[in-house]
Amino acid sequence: MPVDILVGTQWGDEGKGKLIDVLTRDVDVVVRFQGGNNAGHTVEIGDERYVLHLVPSGVFRPEVKCVIGNGVVADPVALQEELEGLEKRGIDTGNVFISNRTQLIFAYHRTMDRINESGTGVKIGTTGRGIGPAYADKMRRTGIRAIDLTSPERLAAGFRAEAEKYNQIFKRCGAPELDVEAELAKVLAAAAKLAPRVRDTVYIVNAAVKAGKQVLFEGAQGALLDIDHGTYPFVTSSNTTSGGACTGGGVPPQSVRDVWGVIKAYTTRVGEGPFPTELFDDCGENLRQRGREFGATTGRPRRCGWFDAVASHYACMVNGVNKLAVTKLDVLDDLEKIAICVGYEIDGRVTKEFPASLAELESAKPVLEYLPGWQCDTSSARCWKDLPEAARNYLKHMAELVDSTVAIVSVGPRRDQTFSVQA
Ligand code: GDP
Ligand code: IMO
Ligand code: MG
Repeated sequence: MPVDILVGTQWGDEGKGKLIDVLTRDVDVVVRFQGGNNAGHTVEIGDERYVLHLVPSGVFRPEVKCVIGNGVVADPVALQEELEGLEKRGIDTGNVFISNRTQLIFAYHRTMDRINESGTGVKIGTTGRGIGPAYADKMRRTGIRAIDLTSPERLAAGFRAEAEKYNQIFKRCGAPELDVEAELAKVLAAAAKLAPRVRDTVYIVNAAVKAGKQVLFEGAQGALLDIDHGTYPFVTSSNTTSGGACTGGGVPPQSVRDVWGVIKAYTTRVGEGPFPTELFDDCGENLRQRGREFGATTGRPRRCGWFDAVASHYACMVNGVNKLAVTKLDVLDDLEKIAICVGYEIDGRVTKEFPASLAELESAKPVLEYLPGWQCDTSSARCWKDLPEAARNYLKHMAELVDSTVAIVSVGPRRDQTFSVQA
């Protein structure tokens, strides 16, 4: 069963892009299965730093087939720009394919996203990429799919009809209306370039599985941003957890072997919403600076806090994570002691369960356990034994608390700053 899934176990930005790049050394096909260009996946190779938004992070290995799956929402103009940006930097994108079932994002979705965020309703702190409105259209059954990129007439007709409908809404909201024909021209230009990449990727992926090839699913965002399991409504609009890989890529559950959970050695969050272990002091600022915690997509400073074992235990349980990839251990190098949240105190009662109630999450006081720091450099560690004992203990404790096993440790952004841990 050669399908593995890699997901984020926190609020995103755990280092998934880096891990996908490392793991695709031994992979034939990599599939993005949800989300859109709200994602920002960083890959550092030598002195070069790349941030991917829609293109799967296997793209740096020309022999790897990269699939944008049916569960993704893709902005054709942004995707074409991203592909051209990579090509300009000498990266061959000939192996990038788009599912004909992928839903498309257009300018009116982005405008709608802005309107939703600026109104009197709940402000989510979205990335402004039109993700929520595009998924809403998918569920409303009014979305336009990538199959229409291959038919300019059908695409133009669908786009005009939807754009006019949205313009009525914008007029009512007092928002600027879209110049339909100018936008359509941009969309058609991108469509003409993208059309040769549109395939029935469900057959491609299933044929690879049948042939015993290695397929890796690349999650975006993280479990706590999952539409069902995250801190609703402060979430994204897709199933970011491993179950989403089957629907978002079109593979059956019994083809899945391992679920990799990428887990940062501390916690970060971008946007609004509850974050029980958030630090507002120098310690949080230190994590932000040392970890370079600024959004890869929007540049926003990321909120930083201690590792939250309650939240990540829930995430690992729901995802079925059997292999942990712990990232950014090096960011904790200078700390004298390190806290881990092992429970929440809510209304005077301590729980180890992650509550569904927003009010409970907002009032949760973290129950912290302190572990000694190691106060030495780990960024040059290349195996488990290279790590100081206190760092090994910290990792073992993290794994115990989330009921999983550490399989990879990452101690820096580069490919070589990664090593496997034998069970
Ligand atoms: P993703 O969205 O999960 O792919 O993560 P991002 O790319 O948004 O954010 C992770 C950031 O941490 C990127 O800047 C990576 O280059 C960097 N990074 C990844 N792993 C490590 C690590 O082990 N140590 C350090 N210091 N940085 C890392
Ligand atoms: P990667 O894949 C971190 C957050 C936004 C906001 C919420 C909803 O790089 O880990 P959306 O634009 O999706 O409607 O915003 O989700 N968010 C992310 N936070 N990493 C991401 O992706 C994110 N993608 C969306 O900040 O709080
Ligand atoms: Mg990111």
